[in-house]
Amino acid sequence: MKVIAISGSPRKGWNTETLLHKALEGAASEGAETELVHLYDEPLKGCLECYACKRKGNHTDGLCAIRDNMRPILEKALNADAIVIGSPNFLGYPSGLTRAFIERFLYPLVSYEVHDGERVRILGDRIIPSAMIFTMNANEYFYGTMHYETTLGATTMNLEAVLGYAEQYNCYNTLQFKDYSKMDAGMFDPEVKQKQHETQFPIDQQKCFEIGQRLVRKARESK
Ligand SMILES: Cc1cc2nc3c(=O)[nH]c(=O)nc-3n(C[C@H](O)[C@H](O)[C@H](O)COP(=O)(O)O)c2cc1C
Repeated sequence: MKVIAISGSPRKGWNTETLLHKALEGAASEGAETELVHLYDEPLKGCLECYACKRKGNHTDGLCAIRDNMRPILEKALNADAIVIGSPNFLGYPSGLTRAFIERFLYPLVSYEVHDGERVRILGDRIIPSAMIFTMNANEYFYGTMHYETTLGATTMNLEAVLGYAEQYNCYNTLQFKDYSKMDAGMFDPEVKQKQHETQFPIDQQKCFEIGQRLVRKARESK
């Protein structure tokens, strides 16, 4: 049982990566082997629209045909029993490299073919339980008013549609800077941010630990 975490945060050791580690700890507590991949360790490209994965008789088997440095990451994701993806909210959307990964991971698994009135599923009966963890400055109120449910939730919907199971966890009002006094960030109250970090972030970590556990159980059930 292998669970892979994909970090779409450029910053190591901050909110997104911390939550992903927790999710992997949860998965490991259920007996899974785990690995975390940092997308920002490499310059990666998104889908190039070659459509090799949509050509008649293609043998891509759900794997993006482009042989570049994204490929080993995609292979790991496709071979995993469960996957957890973490991204900061960047202007209402997953970060650029999270998008690049999602395009190249999910789109080759999407078939436009129909058999007996049913959309062909490239994964067949296989389900890859997945979770999307978003971290952001916004609190729950702004999450609603900024329509993040739609813009961020679209990724989770696509994961669900293609992989067969997806859940989403939002970590709000994150600590963004170590020292707010050195930043042009007067709209934030550093004390409120620090308090949130001390009281809510441990709860977020526990929730992500439980996500890791749940994904392993789902993966076992679906075998
Ligand atoms: C380019 C950029 C755009 C951002 N846009 C938003 C945004 O639209 N809404 C929001 O709530 N937070 C936004 N943020 C804040 C980050 O989502 C937040 O600080 C996140 O927790 C950072 O993740 P990290 O701690 O893993 O680096 C933005 C940050 C950056 C760098």
